[in-house]
Amino acid sequence: MPAENAKWWKTGVIYQIYPRSFQDSNHDGVGDLRGIIDRLPYLVELGVDAIWLSPIFTSPMADFGYDIADYTGVDPLFGNLADLDSLIDAGRRNHLKLILDLVPNHTSDQHSWFVESRASRDNPKRDWYIWRDAAPDGGPPNNWLSEFGGSGWEFDSSTNQYYYHTFLSAQPDLNWRNPAVREAMHDVMRFWLRRGVDGFRVDAVWYLIKDDQFRNNPVNPDFRPGELPRDALIPLYTADLPEVHDAIGGMRRVLDEFPDRVLLGEIYLPIDRLVAYYGRKLDGVHFPYNFALLTAKWEARSIAQLIDEYEAALPPGGWPNWVLGNHDRPRLATRVGPNQVRVAAMLLMTLRGTPTLYYGDEIGMQQAAILPEQVRDPFEKNVPGIGIGRDGCRTPMQWDGTKSAGFSDADPWLPVGGNFREVNVNSLSKDRGSLYWLYRRLIDLRRKHIALAEGSYKPLMASGELLLFYRELREERVLIALNMGPEPIAVSFPDERVSGYVLLSAFADREGEAVSAKLDLRGNEGLLMKLDSDRRAN
Ligand code: NOJ
Repeated sequence: MPAENAKWWKTGVIYQIYPRSFQDSNHDGVGDLRGIIDRLPYLVELGVDAIWLSPIFTSPMADFGYDIADYTGVDPLFGNLADLDSLIDAGRRNHLKLILDLVPNHTSDQHSWFVESRASRDNPKRDWYIWRDAAPDGGPPNNWLSEFGGSGWEFDSSTNQYYYHTFLSAQPDLNWRNPAVREAMHDVMRFWLRRGVDGFRVDAVWYLIKDDQFRNNPVNPDFRPGELPRDALIPLYTADLPEVHDAIGGMRRVLDEFPDRVLLGEIYLPIDRLVAYYGRKLDGVHFPYNFALLTAKWEARSIAQLIDEYEAALPPGGWPNWVLGNHDRPRLATRVGPNQVRVAAMLLMTLRGTPTLYYGDEIGMQQAAILPEQVRDPFEKNVPGIGIGRDGCRTPMQWDGTKSAGFSDADPWLPVGGNFREVNVNSLSKDRGSLYWLYRRLIDLRRKHIALAEGSYKPLMASGELLLFYRELREERVLIALNMGPEPIAVSFPDERVSGYVLLSAFADREGEAVSAKLDLRGNEGLLMKLDSDRRAN
């Protein structure tokens, strides 16, 4: 069992819900809060500890909720404040924590702050956003680009200035150099923390501060035509500025006014820069999301190197975490292929650190094919045809084999995945050998074995298709062997004294088998083994 003082966000598993796509309860083809409440028993059975909801706040939905028009209101599409309170209560009764998405970098252009800000140059809220005069030629003030294609500057003809937007022009960036903006966002945090939410995943947090001299970003010499347009420049003056840590520290202090809450940062940066977000005195986010596995080559040695690099870079006391899927990246099952989904599940649930599981990955939902006329994602609409579309990983949760996969009895806002008749909760939960059951067992084992939840990570071997490591705490050692390829592997441990037994095979058919100095792994098999306490595999 986990140590009594270990924090829930360290030992637990976080489950990300994309609310539009989880469960529709009011027949409009879009998921909602009541739908999530109805499905809580599923999450309890799966065994996860916390839910992170992508935004459910009032929004014109230009970026499906990441464009917020009222930070303290629930969008009618998802329900109302009372529904959210019910979700918090129901979660509490079921020991499920609730993490909300905080989007402090930008608002919707419909937010009253921005409506005021753009009303006149001398409006008191003018400086809440980033306004600049045109360049001498009348064009944008500098070369800064939007993440979602085109210039980052939008001209506002009524006041004759440009405003800056890291994402869509409908998502103007707040000016985080302005203390009033910080205060307002702190109040938003307090509003939700007082209502009982357990923390926030903070969106796009490495973008919060921009250069106050508005210098041009340097050209990226490695950029090739056909790549993402934003990569034409190096975001030296628009992202990861030193002052951002002060802004995050302010949010953390607000969070710490409340007991036992968590602050998680969405940050896409190389590992050496990423770890700075823990804060110098661990006073930044509790952990910056570690997305390294989303783009890693699925190969034992590369993954072992990446784990080593990450473990070595963590500051003392900095708690690790791992992610294999989210609402912005192609589905795991499609990325690693159907044969490796079980190995991927075992990796996610046995590495040291908090795992975040993206809804549907536990049943192996695939990246859905989206026809051009079905595209909803504004990023894909702005930058079409280079494969960045996010609709394919946001399709409705596949609950059963009936029409619309049990997600809704109306036409869903995105098509259901083509394989929903076979790949759905109903059929997988009846099959004890399914991927769904593998996740359930893994989550259960994390709970039962302190070495898995909190133990240290010890690499043993990474060669060819084999990744071998163990997790250890006090007297408990769990050995993890992953075959990342289709061919069988015979493993001989250098230490002849290895002994123990199998806790779990990816194929659920070797539990209890004795383990000795020689180990046979089938193709695409992963094994978790409990080692006898006096005999180490080292
Ligand atoms: C990151 C979110 O994950 C993504 O979905 C969103 O479009 C951008 N931030 C803008 O908020």
